[in-house]
Amino acid sequence: MSVPDTEIAKTEAVTFDAFDPKHWPDPYPRYAVTREATPLLRTPLDVHLVTRYEHQAAILQDNNWSHAHEAELFHPGVEHTDLPTSFLWMDPPDHTRLRGLVSKAFTPRTVADLRPRVERLVAELFDKMVAAGEFDLVPMLAYPLPLTIIAELLGAPAEDHPDLQRWSHALARGFDPDPLLSPDERDARTQAAREFVAYFRELIGRRRVSPRADLISELARVEEQGDVLTEDEMLATCVTLLVAGHETSVNLVSNGILALMRNPGQYALLRERPELAAPAVEEMLRYDSPVHMTTRLALAATEVAGHQFDAGDGVVLLFGSANRDPEAFPDPDRFDITRYATDASVNRHLTFSLGIHYCLGAPLARLEMETALRELVRRGIEMAETDELVYRPNLVLRGIKTFPARFTQT
Ligand code: HEM
Repeated sequence: MSVPDTEIAKTEAVTFDAFDPKHWPDPYPRYAVTREATPLLRTPLDVHLVTRYEHQAAILQDNNWSHAHEAELFHPGVEHTDLPTSFLWMDPPDHTRLRGLVSKAFTPRTVADLRPRVERLVAELFDKMVAAGEFDLVPMLAYPLPLTIIAELLGAPAEDHPDLQRWSHALARGFDPDPLLSPDERDARTQAAREFVAYFRELIGRRRVSPRADLISELARVEEQGDVLTEDEMLATCVTLLVAGHETSVNLVSNGILALMRNPGQYALLRERPELAAPAVEEMLRYDSPVHMTTRLALAATEVAGHQFDAGDGVVLLFGSANRDPEAFPDPDRFDITRYATDASVNRHLTFSLGIHYCLGAPLARLEMETALRELVRRGIEMAETDELVYRPNLVLRGIKTFPARFTQT
């Protein structure tokens, strides 16, 4: 008996490994098949993959779904000292207390004050790229822009940035589920976590003696003055801010510019109307999510998409799929920089999450990307895309490894 094509697709969808490296350059057609076939896909990690926007948004905004157990789901048996866990992986009330301590450094207003510094840095980075002629966008723009800004905010000296980048990279790779990591990658994560913590312990010690106008001095002051912040919490907070503050944004810059280059009509439109830079950034966040997924664990029995979850059950929320869900976004595979400009009722993408863990650095990430885009347009230049793009081996943080490019004056 012959089986209709659509049925074959559905069977494949429920058995296929959505994260096979061969799909990395363009996983979206596979997500579409899976999302259409099923809202929940049981994975070999014994957790359900949630494929649709509606269910992901509901879980993110329901505090019965905890983010305090990601290590158990993805890194079972790993000591917390080998993977510093800050408030990103905590539930209230600890989450509320710690997020409150750093949130004032990242309000839209405080971030707006950083604009002149971000603009200066972006201009410098573009000067260097133009001078280089042929260049790789990842090490020359996508990395140094967010790394420099978050390191300066924290108060980490410029000469330390290469170390910080190396350790961040090893930790970021280590956010993927442990079964996907090689023994070397797991060792590198442990080593990086230890070096990171030793580094910040030493730097905090120096700032206690001579405080400066930076976030580390501020956290050290809070830690000294009361019982609201332990030393371990302070160290984990510094590591998280440093890593979350650039290993994510690097992919927004490279994935976002790549989307623009692959859609010349949209690039031309942005050059004509640079005021579309802000909605263009939102569309870039939606279209190719730099943070591709997160996890939650049920604290109580609950039902999602007709499935009964017990307390202790885990889920993976695949933002990359939710952001292309046609039920949430009309014509979701179209890259449209006006999507967020013209229609106030358009759904928010999930790339910065929703609910209590909504990305603290969202205003900063937006500012950095918008500034980079405006500079790209202002200089009246184009980048040549290369034939082959290699993706970094990372499922949680999706991005390209290198982006060889050149400027062509037009
Ligand atoms: C949380 C994405 C940039 C700091 C998160 C979460 C996501 C995310 C998805 C929540 C995860 C969850 O709910 O499970 C992104 C993306 C970025 C970005 C896509 C860039 C394009 C930044 C920057 C900072 C930052 C620049 C700077 C400090 C944080 C912090 C949290 C967080 C501290 C924890 C918030 C909490 O748990 O309350 N981010 N992020 N992020 N992000 Fe970002």
